Amino acid sequence: MSQDKKRKLLITGAAGGIGRATVKVFAEAGWTVIGVDRKERYEEFPQDGLYIQADISDPADIEEIYRKASDFSKTLDAVVNNAAVQIARPLIETTVEEWDAVMASNLRSVFLGAKLAHGMLKAEGGGAIVNVSSVHAVATSANIAAYAASKGGLLALTRAMAIEFAPDDIRVNAILPGAVDTPMLRAGLNRGHVGNGTITDRLENLARKTVIGRVGQPEEIARSIYFLADNYQSSFMTGQALIVDGGATARLSTE
Ligand code: NAI
Repeated sequence: MSQDKKRKLLITGAAGGIGRATVKVFAEAGWTVIGVDRKERYEEFPQDGLYIQADISDPADIEEIYRKASDFSKTLDAVVNNAAVQIARPLIETTVEEWDAVMASNLRSVFLGAKLAHGMLKAEGGGAIVNVSSVHAVATSANIAAYAASKGGLLALTRAMAIEFAPDDIRVNAILPGAVDTPMLRAGLNRGHVGNGTITDRLENLARKTVIGRVGQPEEIARSIYFLADNYQSSFMTGQALIVDGGATARLSTE
């Protein structure tokens, strides 16, 4: 955790909306980034970083990711578990395969990754894990049960990890973003919870539901993730859930 050498981050979902913004924030702050995603490496991914194309829903891929990561760097300063999938479907129509796919990507991957990340963080003398959950962990809506359950589980897992990893100076926190303009958010607007107009109409309806009056930008989540990952800024926080939602959960839906 020394400040005089480049710190190292491993982040999943590195090619997504929030992932790309987070990679950029850490790289600009001088970190070396190991990015993981099912998608191919993208042009702007840092030249000095390591990009691993893999599927975190597959336990064998997770082993391979950490094998490659430890060949690249013996230690890690932070891990950001950001990759996730969202299946928007009524609960009674959700199949067991869909449920399992959501849990494998969003929850089991974090458990399996933590087993392997732990040693690399400990070898650094400590570090931080940031689990990207969602406001759906604390309040949700129709047709998104599997996703909401995975994000609620991730919150509970965050607390469990925080307690077990504290003796090794590894802090574990969750971030709960609200509506952030990314491909996942736009795809999820098909649920009909913000009307059936054009994408722009739906985004505007969503924006009106936040206290701040707009949806978030990926960079705004990225900077909050950075805060939780950076031991100089959040050194006394562990096992916590940081909500970054433009005030969406501050207002009663009945008001
Ligand atoms: P996104 O869909 O733009 O990015 C997710 C990335 O994860 C994609 O690049 C995808 O390829 C990757 N990914 C998914 N499953 C994977 C797997 N099994 N293996 C490897 N890579 C995989 O979504 P976004 O919005 O950037 O989401 C990032 C995180 O933020 C997710 O955990 C999401 O649940 C969370 N979040 C997003 C919100 C939003 O409004 N955009 C709100 C609350 C939470």
